[in-house]
Amino acid sequence: MEDRQQPILVLDFGAQYSQLIARRVREAGVYSEIVPFDISAKEAAARHPQGIILSGGPASVTTPGSPRPDKGIFSLGIPVLGICYGLQVMSVLLGGKVVSPEKKEYGIANIEISPSLLFDGIASGSQVWMSHGDSVSEIPHGFRIIASTSNCPVTAIEDADRKFYGVQFHPEVVHSLDGMKMISNFVLGICNAERNWNMENFIDLEIGKIREKVGDRRVLCGLSGGVDSSVAAVLIHKAIGDQLVCVFVNNGMLRKNEAENVLELFGRNFNMNLQYADAEEDFLSALKGVTEPEAKRKIIGKLFVDTFYKESRKCGDISFLAQGTLYPDVIESKSPTGGPSSTIKSHHNVGGLPEDLKWELLEPLRDLFKDEVRELGRKLGLPEELVDRHPFPGPGLGVRCIGEVTKERLDTLRDIDSIFIEEIRKAGLYNKIWQALADLLPVKSVGVQGDERTYKEVCTLRAVTSEDAMTADWFRMPYDVLERCASRICNEVPGVNRVLFDITSKPPGTIEWE
Ligand code: XMP
Repeated sequence: MEDRQQPILVLDFGAQYSQLIARRVREAGVYSEIVPFDISAKEAAARHPQGIILSGGPASVTTPGSPRPDKGIFSLGIPVLGICYGLQVMSVLLGGKVVSPEKKEYGIANIEISPSLLFDGIASGSQVWMSHGDSVSEIPHGFRIIASTSNCPVTAIEDADRKFYGVQFHPEVVHSLDGMKMISNFVLGICNAERNWNMENFIDLEIGKIREKVGDRRVLCGLSGGVDSSVAAVLIHKAIGDQLVCVFVNNGMLRKNEAENVLELFGRNFNMNLQYADAEEDFLSALKGVTEPEAKRKIIGKLFVDTFYKESRKCGDISFLAQGTLYPDVIESKSPTGGPSSTIKSHHNVGGLPEDLKWELLEPLRDLFKDEVRELGRKLGLPEELVDRHPFPGPGLGVRCIGEVTKERLDTLRDIDSIFIEEIRKAGLYNKIWQALADLLPVKSVGVQGDERTYKEVCTLRAVTSEDAMTADWFRMPYDVLERCASRICNEVPGVNRVLFDITSKPPGTIEWE
């Protein structure tokens, strides 16, 4: 199992697809890590990589100062695959030439291929996704062309002796129909990596690590009932049993019946040491009159930590705070443009913690992607309804109650949310949607109900599809489902008389409204 430490390294040149590359490698059964594009060859070698992938990126190698990897990575004797910008930068560094033709190429293309290990089992004419401005005009010494299209003579190259490969298209995206096969050809066929990345191995290894790190000390875990913290808690519980204390904070901004469900599942079914902290009043009184979204977030974040401290006093000495932080939140990527990398998303859990936190952090899921966490949850015996739950923000309905957060408005929102989710589940659509949410707007409109004029608040319903929440598209919700939701909400929820459906993608919108 030490081989898990021998990753395929993805050098990130700022592509929006870097995470996708790492995920595809893991789908092939091999551990993969994303690292900054300028990692030194020495540092890269110290991670014992089985292969290196150079990602795409927005820059042009023809521009002075554009990002370059340490040339030493080509002398490590490790296979390299360059993708798009990665191909171009490899070509230039190894003696080839790249030009910026006037005609750019975006979209689907079909490649004519020559036999190569990279294309093993793939027929000529295979569909790929192109998105590039520059092209390789002269290939480096020792290379040969292994794929081309009518627009792009150098679509893929190889130096089979040194095991260097480059492709102009993006094998990691679904529109490249044989892309996954190419990635597994590289990882398994060319790098000869062992297929040992799976959740059974992960559980064994991680339980050992947790036991070693924690020893006989005690861990406090904030359990929200969401997928990440639940999976983290169950994994840690498996490792250290009663040395784990879970705290479930009722901040007053939970969904309908959430507290009862969480207490039932974890306290009774999983037999965990679970403390219930009813902090509804603390949260709601601190939020009184506050409408600015960032101010709300800060208050909520601080009160969470205060509540954890307060609860920890009841359970003796605590040394660790456990969190369900995931890999996309911790990728230490360095932006080629000097600004924050597009792959860095400030983590809401981590972001809310004070700098002088008195506990060490325990984050057993920090190597995993969301879909891996779900698989892990299943392996650990968590029920399907929990594992498949849509993401729910830490500050809860607080970020969906636009304007002032009051008990009355939260109750209204809880009812709306529960009708919306119930109708989506009844229509069999829940698992087709990344996230469905309702927001209550601080806007009143005139309506008519039972011959009476009404003047009530407006709510919006939103459902999106997404791979990773970085981008999202609005879900094409069937009209009959929308109609049932609107009709039930207006009839059953006293506080609203108008229902809107949000058809904004991300970008330009975000998923939450705030
Ligand atoms: P946005 O609104 O930025 O959200 O498009 C992206 C994803 O992050 C979730 N989200 C949060 N999750 N704590 C969390 O644990 C938070 O404070 C938070 N804010 C947003 C959001 O629901 C979506 O899945």
